[in-house]
Amino acid sequence: MKQGLVLDKVVLLGRTLDEYRRYFALDLEACRGRAILDVASGVSSFCAEANQRGMRVTAFDAIYGLPGEEISRRCGPDLDHVTDAIKDLKTYRWGFYQSPEHLRGFRERAYQTFLEDYREQQGKRYVPGRLPELPFADGQFDLALVSYLLFVYEDQLDYEFHRQSLLEIMRVTRGEARLYPLVTFEAKRCSHLDRLKNDPALAHLGFEEVRTDFEFLLNSNFYLRVFRR
Ligand SMILES: C[S@@+](CC[C@H](N)C(=O)[O-])C[C@H]1O[C@@H](n2cnc3c(N)ncnc32)[C@H](O)[C@@H]1O
Repeated sequence: MKQGLVLDKVVLLGRTLDEYRRYFALDLEACRGRAILDVASGVSSFCAEANQRGMRVTAFDAIYGLPGEEISRRCGPDLDHVTDAIKDLKTYRWGFYQSPEHLRGFRERAYQTFLEDYREQQGKRYVPGRLPELPFADGQFDLALVSYLLFVYEDQLDYEFHRQSLLEIMRVTRGEARLYPLVTFEAKRCSHLDRLKNDPALAHLGFEEVRTDFEFLLNSNFYLRVFRR
């Protein structure tokens, strides 16, 4: 019997820049002027907010071929479903968000800010496509971020998908990639993680698990830093 959130598909939930800053321990001042790729950014407002603050963020997601109205129609039902499903689960710490209503406020702010920016920037800084392939040049970005796609959806995304995706993310990144969280929705360390670290095809990459002070999903107070050795 599963203890955590059970999802049959990857959902359309978006986080804000403030949440990304906490997940990835980002120094926003140091990020100004840098080329950043947000992989599987969905309806997060990170791209919109970060560009307003002088970062050069490109957002990539499977949904960016869709019109804003269609994305907008999907945001509410996915948010309702998840907010309702997690409120009684033991796999979350409510210290930061305090309540499902407050959490919902963050997610609504994120997708509304996203939708506003998306209407102007679709096909510009919002680039459609599907991992494990990325339509970018080698070394195009200083930093790549992946929030809530790899590791956490262990039941839906197999090892090969993780391996190919990571190789592709590192191909387009001249600096480092940061991936968050490292646990599944069951709050357990994703089994793909140690396999990736020991995979000969990834021997040119280094891995560091970096502790942060942010934890909502239990045991999610680490991100993975991936760099070229
Ligand atoms: C839970 S959302 C996370 C959004 C954002 N990163 C955040 O943390 O707020 C997961 C996103 O992954 C996207 N996605 C799922 N499979 C994908 C794939 N193969 N390639 C690119 N994006 C994908 C979905 O469309 C969705 O927007």
